[in-house]
This record gives sequence, C-alpha cells and structure tokens, in this order.
Amino acid sequence: MGKLPLFPDQASTFAPEVDHLLYFLLAVGVFFTVVIFAAIFYFAIRYRRRSEQELPNPVHGSMTLEILWSVIPFGLTMVMFAWGAAIFFRESRPPDDAIPIYVVGKQWMWKLQHMEGRREINELHIPLGRAVKLTMTSEDVIHSFYVPDFRTKQDVVPGRYSTTWFKPTRTGKFHLFCAEYCGTRHSGMIGWVYVMEPQDYQKWLSGSGTGSLAEEGGKLFESLACANCHKADGSGRCPSLVGLFGRNVQLAGGGTVRADESYIRESILQPAAKIVAGYQPLMPTFQGLVTEEGVVQLIEYVKSLEEKPGAGSTGANTPAGAGSNPQNR
Ligand code: CUA
Repeated sequence: MGKLPLFPDQASTFAPEVDHLLYFLLAVGVFFTVVIFAAIFYFAIRYRRRSEQELPNPVHGSMTLEILWSVIPFGLTMVMFAWGAAIFFRESRPPDDAIPIYVVGKQWMWKLQHMEGRREINELHIPLGRAVKLTMTSEDVIHSFYVPDFRTKQDVVPGRYSTTWFKPTRTGKFHLFCAEYCGTRHSGMIGWVYVMEPQDYQKWLSGSGTGSLAEEGGKLFESLACANCHKADGSGRCPSLVGLFGRNVQLAGGGTVRADESYIRESILQPAAKIVAGYQPLMPTFQGLVTEEGVVQLIEYVKSLEEKPGAGSTGANTPAGAGSNPQNR
C-alpha cells in the first residue's frame, strides 16, 4: 500500500524480456539526454561572446568525430533492432504444445471459447506454466487484446484471424484491456485473466455444461444443413471435408491454397472466393447466419474430421466424439 507502481507486474515469460529491452532503451535515452544537456551548458558558457567585436574562429571538419558520431548511434540502434526483433519473432510463433483458445471481440466485450466447450465473457481462465495460444477475430471494428502484466498486445481485426501467445508465470488475477479505440464504450471493454493452478484449472474446465467446440460445430454442421452437400464419402455436390484441414487444396482457377483456419472461415462466409477444382460455385454464403463463434466451432469440427481407415461412411455426418482430443493435434 502507498506504493506507486511504475511498471505492471511481471506475470508471463515475456514480461522480463520486454522489460529488459525497455530498461536498455531508457538507459540509452537517459545517457544521451544527460550528455547533450551537459554539452549545451558547457559550450554555452565556455564559448560565450565576451565582447561586442568578437568574431568566432572558422571551424574545419573532423573526420574522427564524424565517423564516431555516425558509427556509435548506428551500432546502438542495430542492437535495439536485433533485440526487439528477437522478442517479436518469439512472440509471433506460438509453441506447438500451446493450449488453443478462441477470442471474438465485439463492441464492447470479449468472448472467449475453450476447446473443451467452456465459454466466457470478459474473463479468461488459464493454467499456470502452460503456453496459451489465442486465435482472435472481431465481429465489427478493430479491437486490441492487451494484458499489461503479460506484456502482450495484439490487434483483433474483422475478417481475419490474428494470433498471440503467452506463458503465465504467476497465479492471480490480471487486467485485460482493449487497447484500440473502438467506439463509445471502448474504455469499458475490459476484463480479467485468471491464472490458476493446473488442477484448479482442470476442475474449472470440467464445469461446463456444453460439448467441446468440435461437438458444437458438428451440431451446427447438421442444423445449417452443410451435411446435405458435404458428404463424407465425396459423393455430394460439394467436396468432402474429411481430412481437409492442413491439406493443400486445388482451386478451380488454378493454384492451390492451404486449408487453414482462415481458408475455412472464408469458405463459410464467402464461398465463391475460392472454388475447389472440379466443383460448381453452388454454396450460398453463411454470412449473417452463423456468428464468429459459430465459425470457430465449425472450423474445429472440420479439424476433427480425420480419415478413419475402413470407416469411409462415417465422418461428415457424425459429430466428432470424445476421441478427438484437440490438444493432440
Ligand atoms: Cu474494443 Cu477498444
């Protein structure tokens, strides 16, 4: 109490890394500010005009000086660049064993979905010591997912997925902010991240009444009648989705596209954008019929459709069972 916090808490593996870089930038900035101000005062006094008639001596260049004041700042800025880029690259690449969580931003709230089916609003529960990967999109305008204690900030953009990740190092309750002005109640678009002991997290996870994302996606797949055309055995009017995720898809106009989250999302909302070779552009758009959260569930359902040897007729018509542990992907 009574302590003015100069910095947010350090609660993720990135926090000390980012802080050390910041300390370096501050130290360089303070050092040169002091040197420059000292020089200004020293020269102002040392070379002040002492009489009305005094004329200054002409100054000729100094090669040594010019090389020094070019090379030293260049070296310093390159250190800043390389150091910052190293952190940026690490923050851009989630580790393979990260827990995937989906985030949808909208005016003015955060909606989060766990693979096991648990959904939350303006709250995110995660376990201590595990990397967490967020796949995020927006229903309306640009938001930005910002957890100061994790030193993590990533724009959340409509029409595409952006990702970020972090690994919490302390249990507790940490501020979540929207860091991109997004309208009247931008300042109210806040929440909390709860970092829990792993066993508490497991208990919390199992407290949901709903099925996993893939199971919910399977129900949507049925209720939106996708299964009528996307038959698992490939006999439908639209391509089979079994084993699709991660594959390269041949397109009608030539070229290929990797079937990742963004491609599947686009194919649901703008089916005509990329037609699979050998198929007609028959599919209607599902824009407005399915929410961003629904799209995420459908994507997880498609991911769960794996080719099962000797079981060609199951798949697209059967919601994925408990056997598809999403963390094993
Ligand atoms: Cu959402 Cu600011």
